[in-house]
Order: sequence, then C-alpha cells, then structure tokens
Amino acid sequence: MKVLASAPAKIILFGEHSVVYGKPAIAAAIDLRTYVWAEVNSDGKIRIEAKDIKVPGLTVSFSDREIYFETDYGKAAEVLSYVREAINLVMDEAGQRKGVTVSITSQIPVGAGLGSSAAVAVATIGAVSGLLGLELSREEVAKLGHRVELLVQGASSGIDPTVSAVGGFLYYENGNFEGLPTMELPIVVGYTGSSGSTKELVAKVRKSLEEMPDIVSPIIDSMGKIVEKAREVILADYDRSLKFELLGRLMNINHGLLDALGVSTKSLSDLVYASREAGALGAKITGAGGGGCMYALAPGRQSEVATAIKIAGGMPMITKISREGLRIEVVEK
Ligand code: PMV
Repeated sequence: MKVLASAPAKIILFGEHSVVYGKPAIAAAIDLRTYVWAEVNSDGKIRIEAKDIKVPGLTVSFSDREIYFETDYGKAAEVLSYVREAINLVMDEAGQRKGVTVSITSQIPVGAGLGSSAAVAVATIGAVSGLLGLELSREEVAKLGHRVELLVQGASSGIDPTVSAVGGFLYYENGNFEGLPTMELPIVVGYTGSSGSTKELVAKVRKSLEEMPDIVSPIIDSMGKIVEKAREVILADYDRSLKFELLGRLMNINHGLLDALGVSTKSLSDLVYASREAGALGAKITGAGGGGCMYALAPGRQSEVATAIKIAGGMPMITKISREGLRIEVVEK
C-alpha cells in the first residue's frame, strides 16, 4: 500500500513579532505544497528520501586568497528531523511499528518563513497515518504537528502546523484559533533568497522592548490593533475592492512598524517598495524578517508586481490562499 498526502505553506498576514507578546495574529495557508509519499517496506527500517526540498543552496564568499563555500545542508538535515519525529509520533498513536519509506518533494523554500517545516510534518503525519489505518481529524493532525515542532524546536506557538493542517484563514490569539471566512487574496510572495533566524530576531525585538519600553511597547500595541482592524475588515460586509484597499493600508502600516523594530533588511524593503511602485495596494514582511519573504496585495497587478520583485532581486511567487489544508491525494492498495 502507498499513500500520497500534501500540505500547504503559510504566510502570516498580520501580527508577526507582536504575537510573541500575547497580541493576536492572522495567518493563511497558501497554495505552495509539500508532497509526501509513504509506503511500507520489507526491511523494517524507516527510510526518508528527500527528492526535492528547495533549499536555497550554496553561498560563496571571497577574501584576498580564499574562497569560502557554505551550503544549506544543515537546513536540509533539520527538515528531516521533523519527518522523523512525525513518523515516530504517528506510530506511537497507532500502536504499530513498521518499516516505512517516506519520499518528499516540496514547492516551499526551506528557511523562508513560509512554514516549510510544519508543512512537511503535517503531510508526513497525513501520509503515514493513512498507511497505518489511523483516522485523524485535521485538528488532531494539527495537534500532532505542534508536538513535532515542540520536539524539534523546543518552543512553538503552533500556528504553522494548525494553518497547514486546517487551511484557509486563521485568527490566532494566546494559543486559541478561530477560522475566519476564506477570502481570495490576489497576492504575490517575494523571497529574498536568504533567511533570517527567527530566534535571533525575536531576541532583538525583546531587547529593544526591555531597553526602551516607552517607545517600543506602543509599537507592539499598535501592531495588535492592526490585527484587530484587519479581522474586522475581513468579517465586514464591504465590497472586495474596499476590503483590499483597507487591508493594503494596514499592511503598509504594519511593515513600517516592523521596520521600526529593526526586523526588515534592505532586500526586504527593496521588494516591498518595488511592489508598491508596481501597483500593489500594500506590501509587508511576512514572518520573522531578517531575510525570508515579503508579500504584496495586488489585485489586477500580480504579474506587474511579480516582475518588479524579480527586477529588485527577489524571487516572486504568484500564489493563492489555499482553502484546503492537509489533503490525501492518492491511496494505492
Ligand atoms: O518566520 P516565521 O514563520 O518563523 O515567523 C515567526 C513569527 C514570529 O512572530 C516572529 C515568532 C513567533 O514565534 O510567533
């Protein structure tokens, strides 16, 4: 028997960093997916084949005499630890141990803040549970995905595996999730090609908050209010164009505040400004910043914005919100 499952990437629409201080955040699944085939093997071992997992690759730097190579091999290895923990947890839940071969292909760049680790964990849980005949709801898969993150990372809000398992739009506050009605957002994601460390960026914001509470605390409060306002707009009975215009403005304010907290980089801001100049209603960092990705809201202007992102040195991805989270694609008896 063979099972193929897939799970989507996510973007944080509003509220990264302020969410660390108990403010709400809004995140959505997008239609870049990780695919995982799982099959029982006869040698009794767990084997993981990473066919294509989109690591940015090789960095080369030069000094007077030497050339330095750095690979993203470490990141690839990290992805595999999510897969291993996911397989182990599902086998524990099912009360069965078997040799399983898992084979992964992914459209989601690793380390870009798009939730590639959560997607691979969720798709693995889906495929292996299908293989072992364990029936899990999307919410149960999300909970197992959160446990995988806690095992591998030590800490996690759980927002990534929840969005990846459940799909659509989620409003998140203090560990609780509310599904928002999914609206089609014409967005373009721009990847800088480098990645920031979420841990270091969170620490940087905490340091400024501790050193200058009078200045930084109102910025974080304001970011929380942006999320509340965005939720109101998403739920309101406005027409689409008014919703897009208001959400775009909120995105721009949110980006300015993230920049004020020091988590933007020149390449992120270049992509943000290039998108706005090409007609996006709003553009902002998504995720921790320091590299990684931004996204632009660009109704009717997606291809122009994608070109502008490319010219500004980024990798554009025209993508849609994915209503569907975990999907079982194929079951071969
Ligand atoms: O880049 P990501 O997807 O890891 O986003 C991190 C979001 C933060 O708010 C910066 C951290 C967090 O734990 O919520």
